[in-house]
Amino acid sequence: MATLHEETVPPRPVREFRNIALTGFMGAGKSTVGFFLAEILRFDLVDTDKVIEERQGRRVTEIFSELGEPAFRAMEAAVVEELGLRTGLVIATGGGLILNPTNRALLRQHALIACLWASAETLFERVRTQSHRPLLRSPDPLLRIRELLEERAPIYREADLLVGVDFRHPPETARFIAEAFLAARQVPGTQ
Ligand code: S3P
Repeated sequence: MATLHEETVPPRPVREFRNIALTGFMGAGKSTVGFFLAEILRFDLVDTDKVIEERQGRRVTEIFSELGEPAFRAMEAAVVEELGLRTGLVIATGGGLILNPTNRALLRQHALIACLWASAETLFERVRTQSHRPLLRSPDPLLRIRELLEERAPIYREADLLVGVDFRHPPETARFIAEAFLAARQVPGTQ
C-alpha cells in the first residue's frame, strides 16, 4: 500500500539541463545577458528574434506589419521545436515566446528557464528610445508595458529562476544565472 507521502507528493519529473533559456519582458536585457552568459559557460548564443529575422530577411517589425503577429508566433514555435536537439545553448527568447504553452513545455524538456524580471518603469526607461518593438508602439508605452506585464506576469513567474535586474548589470546577472545553472545540474534527479 502506498504511504501517505507517496499519495500526496507526486514524484518530480527528471529535468534535463542541457541549455538555458532566458525569458522576460522586452527590454529586460535577455540578449545582452545571454551574450555574457554564453561567454562564461562557453555555450552558443541563440537569439530567437535574430534567427527569425535572418530566415525571413526582414526585421521583426516588418514581419508583424506585413504578415501579422500570428505568423511571427508560428515562426517562433518552429524555432523552439528545432532547439531541443541541441546542447550547450543559451537561448535568448523573444518576450512573448514563453506565453505559448507548447513552447514552454518544449523548453522545459531540455533547458533551465531563467526569467529576467524588471519593473515597468525600468523597462520603459530602457525601451523608450527604441522603435523596433511593434507591441510597444502606443501613445502611452508605459501604460502598455504595465498592462502587458500584468497579463504576462503569472507565466514569467513560472520560470525555474527569477532574477531581478532593476539593480544588476548584465555581467552580474549572467554570473548569477551561470552559478545557479551549474548548481542545478548537481541536484540529484537532473541531468
Ligand atoms: C515580443 C518581444 C520581442 C519580439 C517581438 C514580440 C513580445 O522580443 O519577439 O517584438 O511579445 O514581447 P524582445 O523581448 O527581445 O524585445
